[in-house]
Amino acid sequence: MKLLVIGSGGREHALAWRLSQSMRVAHVYVAPGNGGTALMQKASNILISDPAALAEFAISNHIAFTVVGPEAPLAQGIVDVFRAKGLKIFGPTQAAAQLESSKDFAKAFMVRHNIPTAKYQTFTDPLSAHVYIDSEGAPIVIKADGLAAGKGVVVAMTAAEAHQAVDAMLGDGSMGTAGARVVIEQCLLGEEASFIVMCDGKHILPMATSQDHKRLKDADQGPNTGGMGAYSPAPVVSDIIHARVMREVIEPTIQGMQADGIPFTGFLYAGLMIGDGDDATRSIKVLEFNCRMGDPETQPIMMRVQSDMVDVFEHAVNGTLDQAKIDWDPRTALGVVMASANYPSTPRLGDVITGIPAARSDCVVFHAGTILKDGVLSTSGGRVLCVTALDDSVRATQQRAYEAVHAIKFDGAQFRSDIGWRALGPR
Ligand code: AMP
Ligand code: GLY
Repeated sequence: MKLLVIGSGGREHALAWRLSQSMRVAHVYVAPGNGGTALMQKASNILISDPAALAEFAISNHIAFTVVGPEAPLAQGIVDVFRAKGLKIFGPTQAAAQLESSKDFAKAFMVRHNIPTAKYQTFTDPLSAHVYIDSEGAPIVIKADGLAAGKGVVVAMTAAEAHQAVDAMLGDGSMGTAGARVVIEQCLLGEEASFIVMCDGKHILPMATSQDHKRLKDADQGPNTGGMGAYSPAPVVSDIIHARVMREVIEPTIQGMQADGIPFTGFLYAGLMIGDGDDATRSIKVLEFNCRMGDPETQPIMMRVQSDMVDVFEHAVNGTLDQAKIDWDPRTALGVVMASANYPSTPRLGDVITGIPAARSDCVVFHAGTILKDGVLSTSGGRVLCVTALDDSVRATQQRAYEAVHAIKFDGAQFRSDIGWRALGPR
């Protein structure tokens, strides 16, 4: 069969890579893809982005099903467009994608359905926002309502910073329409984890647990980024925490969406803050919902998949996810992101990349911002590569990944040297 994957990041390279390994797959098209998917066996890039044109492509090329990677096409309604043409596609409808595309929608939904999250209020008027900040005090978190590519959240340590963020978003329109409405919420403490499940509207299939590293620099310093590395499993999500997240967050979310008449199909990603304390009682709160897999979490998660993902996606698009199962490699997978010079502000593009080692069963370099032109691979985005390894322990996996990282060269490359540190310490 032939498949279509939509997106151009490391997440989409990892999804296409895993799908292409199925004996049942003849070819995976990636729209628009990157330098890595261009080099992949059984895959090719197609330069189409318009949802209707992609649906036409899927019809004329007899695509068995389509998997959508990023949030933007989902928020645009690509799933609705495909379904209207009778095409199979895995992702949420535009209405269901509001769990990610509007923080205010997500917060109101969580309150309505008793899903634990930080106390909040939503504002369009800067004056009332300032008054709220003064009454709540710092630290406090200011979030643009709409999609902001990971740049819409300010964790303000002082009231001054919070006021400034409100002035920028509501006053100066620094985030455009995404910031015309802001959610202001209580600042939560604890350890973050990414909890991702597949859902067919009714049934839920959890993916392996993972943890991302949002800050640019070692020891979680520097600005927030889309994610500088990730690993799976995340030890903070013990069996007890896993069961609690399913019961306290995921099941009520899927049931709530059904009850609200907008059943959720696709990947549901709950970004969690897990407070300190005993697993049975420590607080679990939702920081955000994403309606897609995480990037870079997908890369280590896909490394650990031992089942045929084509079977799993088939169940997902046919509403029989209760019959699907994923066998996970018990080893740790860990991915180190290599980013371009000046990321995350204005990444420099066009640096030539050399030294990428050939893929092996325990180390694969997934591409994100790369482009292959006349046989030369160069940087074309902020996050360039995610070097992902698999081994028995976190330390061994880290070592394996960093060996490959040190072999890869491009001018201005930035990467953290401590991916996985939380999983190394005593716990
Ligand atoms: P979000 O896009 O909502 O995940 O926010 C991006 C990052 O901001 C999260 O991964 C957290 O590190 C941080 N963050 C978001 N909301 C809160 C909160 N209520 N308290 C503390 N940190 C937060
Ligand atoms: N790595 C965080 C995200 O994909 O949103």
